Amino acid sequence: MNLKIKKLKALETEMRANKKLPLKSSLVFGEGLATAKIVFIGEAPGAKEDELGRPFVGRSGKLLEESLKEIGLKREEVYITNIVKRRPPVNRDPNPREIEAYKPYLEKQLEIIKPKIIVSLGRFALNYFFPDLKITGAQGQVFDYELGSENKFKIKLLPIFHPAAAFRKKETLKEFKKSFKVLVRFLKA
Ligand code: URA
Repeated sequence: MNLKIKKLKALETEMRANKKLPLKSSLVFGEGLATAKIVFIGEAPGAKEDELGRPFVGRSGKLLEESLKEIGLKREEVYITNIVKRRPPVNRDPNPREIEAYKPYLEKQLEIIKPKIIVSLGRFALNYFFPDLKITGAQGQVFDYELGSENKFKIKLLPIFHPAAAFRKKETLKEFKKSFKVLVRFLKA
């Protein structure tokens, strides 16, 4: 088994054993290619994700998959996860304590995968990396970002609208789709 797959499995096992983590719903660790160049990060699992234990498997996931297909990518060729890995009750926003508690796991996950680019989906995922940026101004632009606790490494970060927001407004959907075109050049690199 690939070393990265092994490390991700071990991290998931460690998370499941950590009873101190907030929220009691199913653990939705994340899934996809352990050596992916692109990692998508959402906010927190919804009802369908909680039921199936997989990220982005509802309506938002369908739009994500469709948009990937349009740039010639399959879901299996990227990695998909969330900042908070359990569903908050009645789909409320994750709170700062929850985001903080799940942070070490997301950090380790990203250190293992070492993608070229992170695509943050929506306002919460953007503000996890850049607390002061606004989604409307930042979406569709590529930012430099440094990851890693001991050995730091440079990556790119592309904030895009959350698919759920893209359903609400035509203009948002247009911007959402446009952002995927930016990813094409990272596939070639
Ligand atoms: N919305 C998210 O932010 N994450 C999911 O996994 C599903 C919907």
